Amino acid sequence: MKIIFPVAGVGTRFLPATKEVPKEILPVIDKPLIQYAVEEAVASGLADFIFITAPGKEALERHFVPNRELDAFLERHSKTQLLDGLQDFYRKNFSYIRQEQALGFGHAIALAEKAVGDEAFAISLPDDLILSEQPAMAQLIAVYEKYRSPVIAFMKVPPEDAPRYGIAAGPFLEERVFRIEQLVEKPALADAPSNYAVIGRYIMTPDIFPLLKSGKQGAGAEIQLTDAVVELMKQRQVLGYFFEGRRFDAGTTLGYIETLVHVALQREDTRDFTRRLLRGLALDEKL
Ligand code: G1P
Repeated sequence: MKIIFPVAGVGTRFLPATKEVPKEILPVIDKPLIQYAVEEAVASGLADFIFITAPGKEALERHFVPNRELDAFLERHSKTQLLDGLQDFYRKNFSYIRQEQALGFGHAIALAEKAVGDEAFAISLPDDLILSEQPAMAQLIAVYEKYRSPVIAFMKVPPEDAPRYGIAAGPFLEERVFRIEQLVEKPALADAPSNYAVIGRYIMTPDIFPLLKSGKQGAGAEIQLTDAVVELMKQRQVLGYFFEGRRFDAGTTLGYIETLVHVALQREDTRDFTRRLLRGLALDEKL
């Protein structure tokens, strides 16, 4: 199964940092955000990565390709572990497609039609960083394999946050799995059918591609994947899956701070320091 990473966004929320540096390679501690999503995909058994990038994102395109001078430097200084960490990716298959115009997430996916071929495929939005025991994408693949239907990841959000997400409702088929009967991209608060929010992990089937080509603009005057999925639901069952794990929104400044703290609390080399730091701050009455 191939996996698409739509990474063409401008990243205005992180300006000025993102003037020259693509937001997907901003580090969460010492690892670029995109690498968390790629590592989750690798841990889910995927090895064919399609990036939908944009002009100005060259640094992102270079991140997973060999850098001979750096490799030679690490080799000379016997930094084998660091070198292995880089070389792991050299053996995987990355391809890059340019989205020349910012016409939306759905438009970005449509560009991958030829590269995907006629198999089911995965989509991952790196802004959604998910910490879980079993990789989130592996959980979705298991649901796809059981039902052979497209699957979208979900979590419950506070009802007032519904206008920031794709929101769905429908009957449960088993614990964590429901059939999507209603789906709407970024609804007005009064129109949200539930507080079940789409999170950026999907397994889609190639019959989505013709539906992405209607050119119809949806929320934010963009071509939305969600609108094509609503059309797909008229042809076949589409499932929602409440994944196990915790999602962080690294695409906003406050969410980014939360992501950093939680990753630091999870990593063995940073956990104790971060705990002590947070405890100390909690006791500091001047804050
Ligand atoms: C995208 C999707 C939306 C989903 C969200 C999750 O929106 O269009 O349905 O709920 O990701 O992060 P974006 O946040 O890119 O506007």
